[in-house]
Amino acid sequence: MSTTHFGFKTVDENDKARHVRGVFDSVASKYDVMNDLMSMGLHRVWKAYTVQVANLKEGDQVLDIAGGTGDLSMAFSKKVGATGRVVHTDINEAMLSTGRDRLLNHGIVLPTLVCDAEKLPFPDQHFNLVSVAFGLRNMTHKDAALAEMCRVLKPGGKLLVLEFSKVAKPLEKAYDWYSFKVLPRMGSLVAGDADSYRYLAESIRMHPDQPTLKAMMGEAGFGHVDYHNMTGGVVALHVGIKC
Ligand SMILES: C[S@@+](CC[C@H](N)C(=O)[O-])C[C@H]1O[C@@H](n2cnc3c(N)ncnc32)[C@H](O)[C@@H]1O
Repeated sequence: MSTTHFGFKTVDENDKARHVRGVFDSVASKYDVMNDLMSMGLHRVWKAYTVQVANLKEGDQVLDIAGGTGDLSMAFSKKVGATGRVVHTDINEAMLSTGRDRLLNHGIVLPTLVCDAEKLPFPDQHFNLVSVAFGLRNMTHKDAALAEMCRVLKPGGKLLVLEFSKVAKPLEKAYDWYSFKVLPRMGSLVAGDADSYRYLAESIRMHPDQPTLKAMMGEAGFGHVDYHNMTGGVVALHVGIKC
């Protein structure tokens, strides 16, 4: 049996996706309010910066992976205009349908598709931009997912990976206290679920740090990779170019 991690727990590799599904089934309806509370609104700034770095133009083809409740898809759709297309995808139906309803309430109609990032149902060299925000951390085979993201990009296309990362040393103590003491309590009070927010804190600690993820993206086929730390490394935006 091959094993992997689910937060700090060791689980059968074949079971991780089911555990992750349980987390997002549980938090979907409270996801947006929790995001604002937990990050004190900062996730909006991190995403706004990601949209800037995307530098999209009219007509671009975009794939939003692990798109969840649709923040990035919504922002991207405003940039690509009527001639472009943003495909909003996620492996989790509860997250995706919450996002789709939200987009519709804003008058935005996008193709919405349940799919696993590790097996993307798209042709080679199709998209100008692929994004994955706070999703890669939850995937079982990150190397396979990154290789798929590279495959579906056009040559010269860009992958944006926005993800929690390794904080700067002086912030570590306060960040640990906030993650392990405050987040689960907040999750319990607001979403009635402490465990999912404990998993969030643990999964961040298990995720590859900035240089490791950069190397993984290179191995997945990206010719040029760089990263931008935000909020002292709480979050990093990795940018990969398919050369
Ligand atoms: C923390 S949410 C991020 C949602 C959104 N991108 C955002 O930034 O607000 C993580 C998402 O990753 C999705 N996810 C986890 N594993 C996945 C996989 N293998 N393929 C596609 N999506 C996945 C989850 O279902 C969940 O909706």
